[in-house]
Amino acid sequence: MQVFQKKDINELLSQTSPLKRTLHTWDLTFLGIGAIIGTGIFVLTGKGALTTGPSLAISFLIAAICCGFAGLCYAEFASMAPVAGSAYTYSYISFGEIIAFIIGWDLILEYALGAATVSAGWSGYFVNLMSNLGIHIPKVLTAAAGTTPGVTTYFNLPAFLIILIITYILARGINTTKRVNDTMVIIKLSVIILFIICTVWFIKPQNWKPFTPYGLYSFHNGTASGVIPAASIVFFSFIGFDSVSSSAEETINPSKTLPRGIMLSLGISTILYIAMTLIMTGVVKYTVFAKFLDAPILAVLKATGQIWLSIIVSIGAILGMTTVILVQLYGQSRITYSMSRDGLFPKFFGDVDLQRQTPYKGTWFFGIITAITAGFINLNILSELVNIGTLTAFILVSAGVLWMRHKHPEIHRGFRAPGVPITPIIAIAFCLLLIAGLNWETWLRFVVWFAVGLVIYFSYSYKHSKLRN
Ligand code: ALA
Repeated sequence: MQVFQKKDINELLSQTSPLKRTLHTWDLTFLGIGAIIGTGIFVLTGKGALTTGPSLAISFLIAAICCGFAGLCYAEFASMAPVAGSAYTYSYISFGEIIAFIIGWDLILEYALGAATVSAGWSGYFVNLMSNLGIHIPKVLTAAAGTTPGVTTYFNLPAFLIILIITYILARGINTTKRVNDTMVIIKLSVIILFIICTVWFIKPQNWKPFTPYGLYSFHNGTASGVIPAASIVFFSFIGFDSVSSSAEETINPSKTLPRGIMLSLGISTILYIAMTLIMTGVVKYTVFAKFLDAPILAVLKATGQIWLSIIVSIGAILGMTTVILVQLYGQSRITYSMSRDGLFPKFFGDVDLQRQTPYKGTWFFGIITAITAGFINLNILSELVNIGTLTAFILVSAGVLWMRHKHPEIHRGFRAPGVPITPIIAIAFCLLLIAGLNWETWLRFVVWFAVGLVIYFSYSYKHSKLRN
């Protein structure tokens, strides 16, 4: 069928890239950590802890295992097709156009909605920091309506503004240079390590009992609770490692460097996450986080009396989340740029400002939509939608590895995921498990998103696809 027409991998590989190869393993690792550590650990741990109690660390481990197996599949694909476009390009090669479109459509959830979610988390720390400095932003403008039970809020002004500022930076072409990203990552890591060193002494082991108050999966007050539903929430914390594979064209010896960069950034983040969540649930009783949903780390610092540290941690969290927003909005503009180049999205998204070399129209289009979304929609709804979109992309990439090994064993792979077919099958099983842990409203919203995507595909992309015409 025409909708399943595939891009030819050899043709893609023969196209020379104008980009310069400068990135080594540690650059990629820093890039990955820059994109990974953000709202997940600084904000969603509060909701995660309320969902599963002290076993939050196990939930993080489950999400990490899922990402580790999917990461191996990303790494194999990236080493086989070290071209830009990540999951979108991989599925164009293995499954054909319609699946590639669906993935690209899905990646909007990961990147644009992801940026909106992170900016809402950013806003929580920003509002707290400002109030510590004596500047009070009107409460109604600090969050979307219905975010905090019992508190009247209408619009998240700081989240709205930070998205517009970052969009402006990206549209001007000041890309995340390696040095800016590296500096921010070092600050982020230092703040986390400082937090661990200063708070580990305050753990009271009785706070860890009972360790799994809601079991693996149960219903509590009408919502899914337990280790698995919490893993489905904190999965958000690992999103971003796949952005490493997007730099395939700028990497030295990508077939070795990419898998190492993906695995190292995932591994380091996982160790820090587990240490932090054990400390957080050990220093205070997990129920305390109900009052600190927008900045749970501050609950811990308050309990230890280290208010001075909360200012440092807030600044680190704000800077850390800024890099995540930047990487996500950047990824968003590049995916829609690739889709527009292939004719699947209108030309508007591919228009490049020749002087600044950025797809500025698409950057502004998504920047404005993302900012409005961040202003009006609750962080928890956003993050779950991002998770289901990303998990679907992971499933397709893992299935793509299975398919390409079967159909195209002859293609050179600089890195071969160990244990195929078991590895991608485990990745898919974990992704399905985490999708099952999300609530049914999220599934429904995702189905609606998916249906809108199909309408766009058949009414526009199908007719304008360059591959087929
Ligand atoms: N993993 C990223 C975060 O937690 C998206 O902010």
